[in-house]
Amino acid sequence: MLAATSSTKTPTAAKWLVAHDRQRGFFRLSFSLWHFFIVGTARTAAPGSVFSEENLPSLVATKSKFQAIRGTRDLLPPETALWNHVEETARQVFGTFGFGEIRPPILEPTELFARAVGGDTDIVSKEMYTFEDRDESSTSLRPEATASVCRSYIEHGMQQLPLPVKLYYIGPMFRRERPQKGRYRQFYQIGAEVLGGTDAPAIDAEVIEMVMTFFDRLQLPGVQLEINSIGHNAENCRAGYVARLQAALREVRDKLGPDSQRRIETNPLRVLDSKLEQEQSIIETLPRIADHLCDQCKAHYAAVEQQLGMRGVRYRENWRLVRGLDYYMRTTFEITAAGLGSQNAVCGGGRYDSLVELLGGPPTKGIGFAIGEDRLILSLEEAGKVPATAGRDVYIAWMGEQAFATAIRAAKTLRSAGISVELPPAEQKFGKALERASKLNSRYALILGDNEVAEGSWTLKTLADGMQQKFAEPELLDFLKRSL
Ligand code: HAM
Repeated sequence: MLAATSSTKTPTAAKWLVAHDRQRGFFRLSFSLWHFFIVGTARTAAPGSVFSEENLPSLVATKSKFQAIRGTRDLLPPETALWNHVEETARQVFGTFGFGEIRPPILEPTELFARAVGGDTDIVSKEMYTFEDRDESSTSLRPEATASVCRSYIEHGMQQLPLPVKLYYIGPMFRRERPQKGRYRQFYQIGAEVLGGTDAPAIDAEVIEMVMTFFDRLQLPGVQLEINSIGHNAENCRAGYVARLQAALREVRDKLGPDSQRRIETNPLRVLDSKLEQEQSIIETLPRIADHLCDQCKAHYAAVEQQLGMRGVRYRENWRLVRGLDYYMRTTFEITAAGLGSQNAVCGGGRYDSLVELLGGPPTKGIGFAIGEDRLILSLEEAGKVPATAGRDVYIAWMGEQAFATAIRAAKTLRSAGISVELPPAEQKFGKALERASKLNSRYALILGDNEVAEGSWTLKTLADGMQQKFAEPELLDFLKRSL
């Protein structure tokens, strides 16, 4: 039964609460004074004491000895709530497109990435964490997961499954890049791959539609999709184009920076990726791949564009979008978002029809993408989409042995109803308990003293407005289950 609390009839704990509310100002003041006194004393502690000034530097040094490795970081609450929300949304959206989850290992043979991503790429030649395992095999922390998914496809004979096989993954990747905002050495990707079956342009468009739906669901700000086709590796298509590009680049070689000069010989397409200001006007004059695609690749690209139109997906064409991994052909795409500075690519992907075969599997069509989850989260945070600090529904302020036993029982009942409960492990004065309840952002404090338990009348305090209500046990549990 619900009963309004009147100060004349309140049992011990509830009475104390009323008094405490009046005295709170005084407690705050005396706490501050004690704090001032203790901190002041520590600063002037006698020489030789553990906290003396001469010992402080070594104490600080010992404390800061272990730090997360450069380019790696701890993801902590409340931010992890946003990570979970993003991942749950990915699972939900990708599920509606018929994708299932794959969890490949983080360690793979180095050779897998050398062959798939390309030995001359920055990722493989400079950025992989590679070590010799105890059996002397060369092993690497995965810098990306497309190669792993293809390895797994071959290893498990997935070509026997109804095609195409649609898989997604969520997890950490490792690249030893120079850390900066949005660029880490351990970062997280949410990726998806479609393997086998046909290379129908509708598949390319649906994969892009899926990632755009996901971003839309998250209300990611400033999303911009860019697409391109880099054709296929034949003389009448990309190979011919690359030869022309290389010849054109050799003619302007002296006007280019050292990185681009080197790339003219190792990977001319990557020169198009350059962000160097002084190279931009030169790059604009170079031959464009769209003018050198073979008829089939041209038709495929046109059909992808038409399919995107049918799905209402807005995009911009970018002839310089070549991507930094060797396995791509035909469709390539990248998505940028707001609030990220120079590292604004939040997703990259494309078609890779010969990768499975290159890794020793059957001829297999493939297309996919990977989202940089760290950047996605940064962009959401910059847009103010930060989760509220998760509080507790109920803080049980108990005092007395009998009350503790009752509190344990109440906590069990409430938790089994999905209500979050903080149950202090040791007795606290009610004042302390309420302070802690507020710090933990609790909605209610359930006041349980031995008297309350004996009388079967429990007090519930709403921390936001200080209102108190009294309930008999079963009604209180019902009330909480209904109101939370
Ligand atoms: P990627 O372009 O190398 O492609 O990476 C995809 C996304 O991962 C980037 O757009 C970026 O958001 C994020 N990313 C990459 N490096 C870092 C880093 N150091 N720190 C933070 N985020 C980073 C791939 O990895 C391909 N496997 C994508 C793919 C899947 N293509 C076909 N299927």
